[in-house]
Amino acid sequence: MRRYDLETRLLHGGDYNPDQWLGYPEILAKDLALMEKAKANTFSLGIFAWSTLEPEEGVFRFDWLDKIMADIHEMGGNVILATPSGARPAWLSQKYPEVLRTNERREKQLHGGRHNHCFSSPVYRKKVAIINKKLVERYGNHPALLMWHISNEYSGDCHCDYCQENFRSWLKQKYTTLEALNEAWWGPFWSHTYSDWSQVESPSSLGETMVHGLNLDWKRFVTDQTIDFYQHEIKDIRRVTPNIPITTNFMADTNDLIPFQSLDYGEFSKHVDIISWDCYPAWHNDWGTTADLASKVGFINDQYRSLKQQPFLIMESTPSSVNWHDVNKAKRPGMHLLSSLQFIAHGSDSNLYFQWRKSRGSSEKFHGAVVDHDNSEENRVFQEVTKVGHSLEKIKAVKGSYKKAKVGIIFDWANNWALEDAQGFSQQSKRYAQTLQEHYRSFWNADIPVEVITPESDLGKYDLVIAPMLYLIEEETMDKFTEYVTQGGRLVSTYVTGYVNETDLTYLNGWPKKLQKLFGIAVKETDTLYPKDRNQLNYQSKSYEVQDYCSIIELKGAQSLGSYVQDFYAQQSAVTKHTVGAGTAYYIGARTAQDFLTDFYTALAQELSLTNPWVVAGHPDVSVQSRDFEEESYYFVMNFSEEIQIIEVAEESTDLLTGEKISKHIQLQPYGVKVLHP
Ligand code: GAL
Repeated sequence: MRRYDLETRLLHGGDYNPDQWLGYPEILAKDLALMEKAKANTFSLGIFAWSTLEPEEGVFRFDWLDKIMADIHEMGGNVILATPSGARPAWLSQKYPEVLRTNERREKQLHGGRHNHCFSSPVYRKKVAIINKKLVERYGNHPALLMWHISNEYSGDCHCDYCQENFRSWLKQKYTTLEALNEAWWGPFWSHTYSDWSQVESPSSLGETMVHGLNLDWKRFVTDQTIDFYQHEIKDIRRVTPNIPITTNFMADTNDLIPFQSLDYGEFSKHVDIISWDCYPAWHNDWGTTADLASKVGFINDQYRSLKQQPFLIMESTPSSVNWHDVNKAKRPGMHLLSSLQFIAHGSDSNLYFQWRKSRGSSEKFHGAVVDHDNSEENRVFQEVTKVGHSLEKIKAVKGSYKKAKVGIIFDWANNWALEDAQGFSQQSKRYAQTLQEHYRSFWNADIPVEVITPESDLGKYDLVIAPMLYLIEEETMDKFTEYVTQGGRLVSTYVTGYVNETDLTYLNGWPKKLQKLFGIAVKETDTLYPKDRNQLNYQSKSYEVQDYCSIIELKGAQSLGSYVQDFYAQQSAVTKHTVGAGTAYYIGARTAQDFLTDFYTALAQELSLTNPWVVAGHPDVSVQSRDFEEESYYFVMNFSEEIQIIEVAEESTDLLTGEKISKHIQLQPYGVKVLHP
């Protein structure tokens, strides 16, 4: 058994960059003392340490890392050891300029920054293989080694000649003939038919951006090429340490947290042993409520739990503020514990930070860290981190437990890319990811657990599958949906579904016949509204506002559940229901506000007995999430509001954080959190 299987603690700690402090031995000694105080047990080392590990080509220096690894081991801690490819030493870029990335304008970048290497460069691959092999041979058997952290936040693309060649090979493998590629990309449009493979180039603002099939394939290629680079990185690591789990840190996009856009993590997650990700929500922002943001954080956590159907790790988060939001506001007292436990509640077995000690210079010198420039354990941030450390020890019984969910929401990266690229509808209001999060919100408010899945997932385990805005949908997915519903599943689809196939070619002869059969309707048109336009739909004798998109629907066997109030499609169906085999397919034709989604899903949840039996009287701003074992559950009750809230639950319990007995009436302070074991 390797360390990871034996580790019973939830992981607490984070990125530790002692290589920035080698000239300050007193600081390094103090770090160890503070780590124990903060109940920190796990550190990611060496993420950006290449220039310290290999200061000159072929000259390696491991003494400092030996010492830190030994010290961490001695205090009973774990090391997540990184490969350093996320940033390279200057000598490497200078001697081998091919390792530098070429941007989409075909400009070779200068040395600097990070996360900007070419994924194809043979030299970069060779140099990475050398340093990675050294690391695994030296530390593969180290008793502190818990896991491998491959590179850092892989992202971006390179358009150099090597990458162009690799792209062409990838296309040849996919399409075999140029005729097939020209057909898939609709070549004759604007005379874009290729007569030789060598004419194919990656998208560029200096050249081609209008061939949507090309854009889509380039994005797929970039994912595959990044995974290929990752596979190259782990070759020796896997061989020498087959029992040490491997991860690479994933991300989310924007301060408001939507799924990461530029890599298909559904694909990537198949190649990692454990999903880990870096979470930086803008708490206390001035554009939404705390609960709004908490629900979005919940969504992404659920996605990372669902992709591998196992607990995941938070690899980075901030104990206070970041340095890259527009406004870097401090977490209010209590928010650090609440937001940390929210990760655990959704299936994380860790809360790790970026970073342990605040840098002294360069761009991250004001990014929040556990230890500030004051080097003190007295300040508020250190105290709150220590509280989290103690709390994680008290709730370690949840480690390894999963979360049962009967609702699946589908997010599809290819659909996201194609829809973003589509010139049509409205450029501002597509909001695919945000739309999913709005549907998710109804369940989050009602404390009903959800998994965020992909079209490839096994749908049979869900009582309800929600697949909004599948603009790109493969015939295979239509067949899968039909099978799922026929077997008794409930499926919800929406406006802007069923336009193009997997190469971004539109379906011919009207809305796809398979969808027509499944939903019992034909979508005849989609009306795109101006931002201020509103229509209404009547549903269950209530009227709801609709905006942005209205599908004009012809019934072909479905029952109409609601109809439009205004415009040339007034009185026509806006929401439909169709029974197929043992199941039902619903179609929501227009974008509504949360009120409709809540009423619609509340009724469905009741009908399907999805409502959370443990929550007798909840509150939308209080999130209840459970971590479940076969026979028992632990309930995280979290108040994402600035007011005291009271909820009622089915059982008395004990709060693991305080040891207190808790009645069925639970009172929570603003940002209050309890971890309850009945
Ligand atoms: C992450 C990155 C870290 C650090 C952090 C700051 O994206 O992996 O190295 O820069 O952001 O928030």
